[in-house]
Amino acid sequence: MRYQLATVLLSALAVVAAPAPRLPRSIFDKTTSVTSSILVNAPLADTIAALQDFQNMINLNPLVISSTPDAANPNVYTIIDKLALPLGFEFNTTYKATFTKTPVGMDTISDAGLGVTIQNHWVAEAIEGGTNVTETDTVTANFVVSPFIESEIKSSHGQLLETFKSQLEAKAGQA
Ligand SMILES: *[C@@H]1O[C@H](CO)[C@@H](O)[C@H](O)[C@H]1NC(C)=O
Ligand SMILES: *[C@@H]1O[C@H](CO)[C@@H](O)[C@H](O)[C@H]1NC(C)=O
Repeated sequence: MRYQLATVLLSALAVVAAPAPRLPRSIFDKTTSVTSSILVNAPLADTIAALQDFQNMINLNPLVISSTPDAANPNVYTIIDKLALPLGFEFNTTYKATFTKTPVGMDTISDAGLGVTIQNHWVAEAIEGGTNVTETDTVTANFVVSPFIESEIKSSHGQLLETFKSQLEAKAGQA
């Protein structure tokens, strides 16, 4: 059963990857949004500054194994993620991500290859007891690979948020 799942995923990825570098958007595409938030016990301004430290935010993502800023545009990074499939299969995927500071955090847009586009919208907001950090991820992908991408994002960004929180709180504690 698991082996079948891995085979199906691998052939789905192969099919989707075939007309590289980029598939036209089609009726097979699906767009989904996932929102997660975490309460950080640190000042709002520090939290926004941390969200706008692009290199640090990239490093917090447990899937990332390499990242290189673009020589011409410091807001663009070439990133390599290591993705794991069932049964110990793994593959590396290289993509470009563009980061933009906003007054309340930052936005990213990644053209992740395999016809996958991911937008991340980060917002920090002062609330009773600290700063509420909310991440909204919008994934557009072929409906076959979409559930896989969503579950990767849910688990990796769950970890990212937890590390983000402990990093900031450690810093706030020292201040
Ligand atoms: C992914 O990249 C890492 C580090 O460069 C390398 O060790 C690994 O063999 C690569 N994996 C695949 C499946 O290409
Ligand atoms: C943080 O913001 C999100 C999105 O607006 C909201 O759903 C969540 O309830 C907020 N969390 C707290 C603790 O206020």
